[in-house]
Amino acid sequence: MVIRSLLAGAGGYLPTRVVGNDELARRFDTSDEWIRERTGIRQRHIAGPEETAAMMGAAAARAALADAGAGPEEVDAVLLATSTPDQAFPATALRVQALLGIGQGFGFDLSAACSGFIYGLSMADALIRTGRARGVLVIGSEVYSRILDWSDRSTAVLFGDGAGAVFLRAGRGEGGPGDRGVLSTHLHANGALGDILYIDGAVGRPDRPGTLAMNGKEVFRHAVTKLAEAVDEALAANGLERGEVDWLVPHQANLRIIEAMGRKLGLQRERVVVTVDRHANTSAASIPLALAEAMGDGRMRRGELVLMEALGGGLTWGSALLRL
Ligand code: UT7
Repeated sequence: MVIRSLLAGAGGYLPTRVVGNDELARRFDTSDEWIRERTGIRQRHIAGPEETAAMMGAAAARAALADAGAGPEEVDAVLLATSTPDQAFPATALRVQALLGIGQGFGFDLSAACSGFIYGLSMADALIRTGRARGVLVIGSEVYSRILDWSDRSTAVLFGDGAGAVFLRAGRGEGGPGDRGVLSTHLHANGALGDILYIDGAVGRPDRPGTLAMNGKEVFRHAVTKLAEAVDEALAANGLERGEVDWLVPHQANLRIIEAMGRKLGLQRERVVVTVDRHANTSAASIPLALAEAMGDGRMRRGELVLMEALGGGLTWGSALLRL
C-alpha cells in the first residue's frame, strides 16, 4: 500500500467584469479577428479594485473545500502560486488561510509563473506522500491586468484575471497506474531562458513595479516542443499509451498549442478542456479553473485519467497525471 494524494474537490473564482476583444480594439490597434485567430481568446475577466490575489484565491479555495465536503480544520497546508501577490509578505497563502479561518498548519507562496499550479501540485503531493500533511489546498490566483503594459498590444490582449483551487486529501493506493489520486508529477526549469518571458521589476526595485514582457514566437516554439516532451514523460513514467488518457487539462495560453497537445494525445476535441476562449491566459490559475469547470459540470467522472501540462516564465514547465 502507498499513500496517494486524492483530488477531493476543486473550485474557481472569476472577476465579475468581462472585457471582450472589441472593447480592447476600441482602446488600441488590434482586432477581434486577430486575437481570435492567433490565440482563440474571445474575452477575459478583469479584476475590480477589491478583487486581489488573496480575495480571489480565498473564494476559489472556499469553493474547493465545499466541493470536497471539507472544513477548515482538515487543511494542513496552503500552497498558493502567483506572480501578482497582494503583498511581498505575508504570503498571499497566509492571507487566504486567515480568510478561511484555518487555524493550524503552514503555507507559502510559490513563484513559477504559468507553471505555478503544476509546481504547487507536485509540492503538495510530496508533502502528502511523505506524511507531512494530510489535507492540502493548492491555489493559483492571478491579477495580470495589474502587471500588463496596456500600451503593448502584443501582450495586453493575452491575459485575464482569476483564481482556481483544489483540495488534496491523503488516501491509499496499490502503487500502480490504476490508483486514484496524483500518479506522478514532472517539473522542469531552465533559468538561461529567463529573458523570453518575464516581469521587468519587483517590490525590491521601487523605481520599477514591473510590467510583463514576452517574445511570443520564442515562447511558442519552446511550448510546443517542451510540453510534448513533458506529456511523453508522464505517460512513460506510468507505463501508459497515449490512447489511455481520458482528459487533457492544459495551461490555457493559446488554442493552437492546446489543440496540438490534444492531437498528440490522440484525444477527441471534447476530451480537451478549453477555457482560453472565455478566460484568456490566467497563468497559474488556468489549470485549476479549467478543472473546476469540467468537474463542476459533470463532464469528468471518478476513475478517469487526467493529464495536465503547463509552461511559463522562468522558463518553467511540467506535467502531472492524476486519476479522479
Ligand atoms: O503562458 C505562458 C506561455 N505563453 C505562451 O505560450 C504564448 C506563446 N506565444 C503565442 O501564443 C503567440 O506567439 C502570440 C499569440 C503571442 C503571437 O502570435 P504570433 O502568431 O506568434 O504573432 P507575432 O507575434 O509573430 O505577430 C504577428 C504580427 C506582427 O505584425 P508584423 O510584424 O507581422 O507586421 C505583430 O505586430 O501581428 C502583430 N500583432 C498584432 N496585431 C494585432 C501582435 N499583436 C497584435 C495584436 N493585434 N494584439
